[in-house]
Amino acid sequence: MKFTVNGKPVEVEAGENTPLLYVLRNDLGLVGTRFGCGSGQCGACFVMVDGRPMASCDLPVSFAMNKSVTTVEGLSGKVQKALLAEQAAQCGYCMSGIIISAEFLLQKNPHPSESEVRSALDKNLCRCGSHNRVVRAVMRASREQA
Ligand code: FES
Ligand code: FES
Repeated sequence: MKFTVNGKPVEVEAGENTPLLYVLRNDLGLVGTRFGCGSGQCGACFVMVDGRPMASCDLPVSFAMNKSVTTVEGLSGKVQKALLAEQAAQCGYCMSGIIISAEFLLQKNPHPSESEVRSALDKNLCRCGSHNRVVRAVMRASREQA
C-alpha cells in the first residue's frame, strides 16, 4: 500500500483493515501518535488525512492509500512551542492529538476566538485536566504565528 506520510512517499505491507495507527507506530516508527481508547472517542491518535483530522485508531490503512497523512512529527512546531510556553502538558499523552486539532484550526482560522478554540478541541480528551492551559496555548500560538 502506498501513501504519503509527512511529505514522503511510503510503501507498507499490511492487511487492508489494519488500523492506520498501528502502521504509523509499528511499521513507520512514528510513535508521536498515541493509542488511547482505540475506538474513536478520545482524540489521542489524531492525524491529518488529506488535511483533515481523523482518528487513526479507527481508520483502516487502506483508507490512506494514495492520500497524504500528516502526523505530529510533520508539523511546524508552533503549537508545540506555545504548549511548552504555557506549560500546558501534564503527562502529555493526549498532546499529539491536541496539536493536530489545533494546527487544523489555525490553518482554517488563524485568529480564532477562545470559544472557537474550545469547540475545535472538543473531540480531544485530556485525563489530566489541562484543558484551560491548552486553550491558552492555542491562543498564544495564534498570536505568535507570522
Ligand atoms: S485512540 Fe483513537 S480516538 Fe482514542
Ligand atoms: S496531559 Fe495527560 S492526558 Fe492530557
